[in-house]
Amino acid sequence: MQRQACRCTFAFFVVKIFIPMNTIAATILDGNKIATQIKAEVAEEVQKLSAAGIRPGLAVILAGHNPASEIYVRNKVKSCQQLGMLSENLTPPDSVTTAELLQMVNELNSRDEIDGILVQLPLPPQVDSKKVLLAVSPEKDVDGFHPVNVGNLSTQRPGLVPCTPAGVIEILRRSNIPIEGRNAVVIGRSDIVGKPVAMLLLNNNATVTVCHSKTKNIAQIAQQADILVAAIGKAGFVTEDFIKPGAAVIDVGINKVTDRSEFERFFSGDPAREKSFAEKGSTLVGDVDPHVAAVAGAITPVPGGVGPLTIAMLMANTVKACRMRRGPERQARS
Ligand code: GUN
Repeated sequence: MQRQACRCTFAFFVVKIFIPMNTIAATILDGNKIATQIKAEVAEEVQKLSAAGIRPGLAVILAGHNPASEIYVRNKVKSCQQLGMLSENLTPPDSVTTAELLQMVNELNSRDEIDGILVQLPLPPQVDSKKVLLAVSPEKDVDGFHPVNVGNLSTQRPGLVPCTPAGVIEILRRSNIPIEGRNAVVIGRSDIVGKPVAMLLLNNNATVTVCHSKTKNIAQIAQQADILVAAIGKAGFVTEDFIKPGAAVIDVGINKVTDRSEFERFFSGDPAREKSFAEKGSTLVGDVDPHVAAVAGAITPVPGGVGPLTIAMLMANTVKACRMRRGPERQARS
């Protein structure tokens, strides 16, 4: 949606006055609504599999105590239960070793009723995370982090795709935002989000540019984007000057704001945020400054944008892993 001006013409002098109206709001892309739709579809799939005597199962390994990870895992397990899937939660202590985690993963790999294995990151610092992720069977790798699945994605073979990037594509697709032939700019190059989201956009025929912390003139590059994905982990990094008017802006960041002046920068004049900040002493902001909504055509909010899709896509991946490995179609073929 374009920043608009009000043109007032006076008949006598033919004077044109432009009054800026920079409060025009972008369409808000409601991640909760889309996630609810996807979960309903997954629940239907689970029912069909149950009718064939198969119950998809997800095992989550949560090592040590990380408050944010504990919340994420609780929500993942709760979603599994809501959709009728089996869920198992393993909680080794902070002191867990790489060898112990490898043993746990290997045991889960060998259990037929477990379709998905998710090792919650970050792992404690003494653990060799790459080694542990490599041990997860690619067939059960519902995070899509295993090099086999990374290769499947980049060569457009069937496989398991990382949840948050898959969620970004679902938001665009279900909001009828075209990808093919569009310029997409991804800010961030992590293995979990930036790289796979860039690959998915490319596979959907966008022209993709990836920017990162060492990129020069990020704002100028971002201005070319019809679709801008922000996944750099810096509160409010993407400001209005980054945005091509009317662009779709997908905000993957989740950052906690506790500082009053930072809060003012993003949310001054927003009574709902003001109230919750006063009550909790903090609020969440994405990697996109909320003022971007005045220039963008569509934008995901934080919270309630990409976040809910991550869990919905994890549920979808678990059912997909189940179908690929032991679904009725698979059994009929063997
Ligand atoms: N930690 C933060 N995001 C993720 C994710 O998508 N998967 C896993 N396994 N850990 C995470």
